[in-house]
Amino acid sequence: MRNLKTYKDKMLKELKEKIGGKKVLLGLSGGVDSSVCAALLSEAVGRQLTCIFVDHGLMRKDEAEEVEAAFGNFDFNLITVNAEERFLSKLKGITNPEAKRKIIGEEFISVFEEEAKKLGTVDFLAQGTISLDVIESNNAIKSHHNVGGLPEHISFNEIIEPVRELYKDEVRELGKILGLPDYLTNRQPFPGPGLAIRCIGELTKERLNILRDADYIFRSELTAAGLDNEINQCFAALTDMKAVGVKNEKRTYGYIAVLRAVKTTDFMNAEFVKLPFEVLEKISARITSEIDGISRVVYDITNKPPGTIEFE
Ligand code: XMP
Repeated sequence: MRNLKTYKDKMLKELKEKIGGKKVLLGLSGGVDSSVCAALLSEAVGRQLTCIFVDHGLMRKDEAEEVEAAFGNFDFNLITVNAEERFLSKLKGITNPEAKRKIIGEEFISVFEEEAKKLGTVDFLAQGTISLDVIESNNAIKSHHNVGGLPEHISFNEIIEPVRELYKDEVRELGKILGLPDYLTNRQPFPGPGLAIRCIGELTKERLNILRDADYIFRSELTAAGLDNEINQCFAALTDMKAVGVKNEKRTYGYIAVLRAVKTTDFMNAEFVKLPFEVLEKISARITSEIDGISRVVYDITNKPPGTIEFE
């Protein structure tokens, strides 16, 4: 790993020189890469930076608030757009995962474009592209989702990619040096379309909330069991299948939730984590008793390949 304190100083100098007195726009997703870019640019040019954070209502529990809280001590213009209603109404009745992805991608761009227009001329558009994205976007196996999109729709004079040379672990380390909280710098990858592709079938606010609660219980119990270092990505998914259950001596008919936890280095291959049964049992008991609407919990034991990491 290169010396990131030196890298930070070098980047700050370069960014200051390049940007001068001009304006920079950045799309903040709450993921590690764009967050680190925001912190770096904020330190370099302060309020010449504007970040647009589109809250599509498909984040995990409390995540939108966490993003805003993380940047409380940073000096730049943060525009948060609460677009939950807008996304959910576009997604109404849509069940196909690729169709969901397409609608979310398009809607994201139009929300972002509308906000960007209000700012007038943008001199620089910043992006949190990292070295892996550059490699992956040239990779035929995985047409990746993080690169591209916005630049074709926003008018700007030049693009800035301040972490383009860095690997993921370096981006995380740089984030720590810049003073971002651990919950942001240690964040697992989270798909751009968010919970939409972890909520099988139709997306409603009610189903998304059920999923958010199950996912939160799963992740917090794994952390409590000290398993975070064994896992590179973990989440709950909500299926559209229902099963009969029994709760408080009454029959219930709720959704089947799926838990998934994988270990991977490159996200191209992954192994499911052999979680201890006692931990799974506790999680299952909590989810079925605390969340109305889920009657069964199953654990996904599929590696990638033949599966994918996401569950859809
Ligand atoms: P899969 O499911 O293809 O996922 O094994 C590999 C990695 O990519 C993430 N992923 C996505 N990221 N938009 C994204 O930004 C997407 O549509 C998307 N689909 C999958 C996934 O979370 C995993 O880290």
